[in-house]
Amino acid sequence: MNIQRTLSIIKPDAIKKSVSGNIINMFESNGFKIVAMKKIHLSKLQAQEFYKEHSARPFYGDLCDFMCSGPVVVQVLEKDNAIKANRDLMGATNPSESDEGTIRKMYGDSIDNNAVHGSDSEDSAKREISFFFSELEIC
Ligand code: CMP
Repeated sequence: MNIQRTLSIIKPDAIKKSVSGNIINMFESNGFKIVAMKKIHLSKLQAQEFYKEHSARPFYGDLCDFMCSGPVVVQVLEKDNAIKANRDLMGATNPSESDEGTIRKMYGDSIDNNAVHGSDSEDSAKREISFFFSELEIC
């Protein structure tokens, strides 16, 4: 067993479509334990800081504007090999390329409005979890 934690964000497009409950249900029914969760509205500065690894990419400005366009639900998910398991459940970044039954296929509209974010490595998970949560908030 390799129990890991990963950071999940249910993005503003999914919150606006009122499908956050469906997505949370998908996490739980796929064996993820939700060990921390909150709903927040990011500031532009917070979105820029969170996504700073993409700051040189052409989509960075639009991504940061989108991520602070409305509330998001951030969660810490725990499971055996949680990082890869969550990326498999989310599907490809572009919903048009993601497999049937994945979250992005079901609820994403475009590469920009793709419903969810998930950490892509152990280092990212560590950084992203501590960006949103203190140890006291994880149980
Ligand atoms: P996310 O997993 O949140 O990580 C960065 C986000 O940038 C990604 O999901 C997409 O929503 C967005 N994005 C927009 N264009 C691209 C692109 N060409 N490649 C990767 N991510 C992109």
